[in-house]
Amino acid sequence: MPVRTMKQLISLSILFLITLLFYSCDRDDPPAVITRPSNITEYNQVSEGLKDYYTQPEYFDMGVAIPASFVDNTIKAGLIKRHFNSITSENDMKWSSLQPVEGTFNYTNADKIVSFAVENGLKVRGHCLIWHNQSPSWIFSDGASSASKELVLQRLRTHITAVMTHFKGKVYAWDVVNEAIDDGTATYRASKWYTTCGEDYILEAFRAARAADPAALLIYNDYTAIDPVKRDKIYNLLVKLKEEDLVDGVGLQGHWNISYPSNPLINDAFSKYSSLGLEIQITEMDVSVYTSNSVPETEYTAETEEQLAIAYGRFFISFRLFRDPITSVTFWGLADDRTWLDNFPVTGRKNYPLLFDTNLNPKKAYFEIIDF
Ligand code: GLA
Repeated sequence: MPVRTMKQLISLSILFLITLLFYSCDRDDPPAVITRPSNITEYNQVSEGLKDYYTQPEYFDMGVAIPASFVDNTIKAGLIKRHFNSITSENDMKWSSLQPVEGTFNYTNADKIVSFAVENGLKVRGHCLIWHNQSPSWIFSDGASSASKELVLQRLRTHITAVMTHFKGKVYAWDVVNEAIDDGTATYRASKWYTTCGEDYILEAFRAARAADPAALLIYNDYTAIDPVKRDKIYNLLVKLKEEDLVDGVGLQGHWNISYPSNPLINDAFSKYSSLGLEIQITEMDVSVYTSNSVPETEYTAETEEQLAIAYGRFFISFRLFRDPITSVTFWGLADDRTWLDNFPVTGRKNYPLLFDTNLNPKKAYFEIIDF
C-alpha cells in the first residue's frame, strides 16, 4: 500500500475514534424515567407527584392553598411535599388576619406556612393584599364617621408596605387586588373600597406594592375571569395598570364545575390576557360536582368520579396548550375532606372538587391530568 494511502487510512481511523469519543462523552445521560401511574396501586409504588409531571420551564408550578394547621399534620405535609412546589395561605395573609386592629400586625400563622415553604423548597404566592371581604371595618371608619378617601388610601399603603416588607424575598408573587370587577353591568364592584376611593384604590394598591418589593410579581386576581363581559373589563383594567408597568400577571381563580366553562371560553380568555404580555396564573382551582345551586347533595358515585375526571382532563388540555403564558396552577384545597365548597354556595352540601379524596387518595381526575 502506498505511504500516502496508508497515512490517509490512519488519519481517517483517528478521526473516527475522536468522533466516537466526542459523541459518547457529549451525550446526555438518558432521561430519568417518569412513571405515570394510572391507578392507586401503581401510585403507591412510585414517588412522583404533580410537580414532576408539570415541570418548569416547560409547564408550570403546581400549587395548593392551605391553612397553617396542615404544616403540623405529617400526612398532609407529606402529600403537599410530594405533589406541589408552590403554596398559598388560604386565609392567613388576608387583611383581617394580618392587621385585625390598626397598627397591630399578627404574622404567626402566615409565617408558619412561609417557613414550611422555605424549609421544603416551595415557592409562596401571597394572597391577598386588597379585597372587599375579610377586611376589618376600621379601615373605613374614622371615629364615629366614615374615613375619608385620603385616610383609606393611607391605610392601604401602610398595610401593603408593611406586609410586603415583612415577606420580602420569601413571597415571590402577590394577588395585590382581588375581585374588584363587577359581575353585572357596572365596571367596578361597588365595594367600600370603590365607593370611598373610586378606581384609584386599585392603582394605589399596585403602586404601593411595586414600591414595597420591586422584585415581586404583581397579580390582579378574579373569578369568572373567562366570562367574555367580565374578561373584557378585567382586560381594560390590566391595560391601565400596564401603562404604568404596575402589573405582571392575571390570576384566574378557576372555581369551576364539571360542565363549565367550555374550552373555547378558557382559550379565548388565555389568548386575550396573554396578548398583553402578562403571565397567567390559575390561582384557586376547584371543580364543583354540582352544576347549579338547585342540584341536591349526591354521594360520590363512579359516575361523578368519571365526570370530574373528564372535566379536569379538559381544563388541563387548555392549560397545556397555553403553557407559555401560564406559570402556575394552584388548587384551592388539598383534598375533599376539607373544601369551602361544602358550604358554598349551598350550606352543608358535601362537594368533591379536588384531586384527592376524603382519605387523601388520588382520584381518577388525578390520573387523568398526568396522562399526557
Ligand atoms: C375567593 C377568595 C379566596 C377564598 C375563596 C373562598 O375566591 O379569593 O381567598 O376566600 O373565595 O374560599
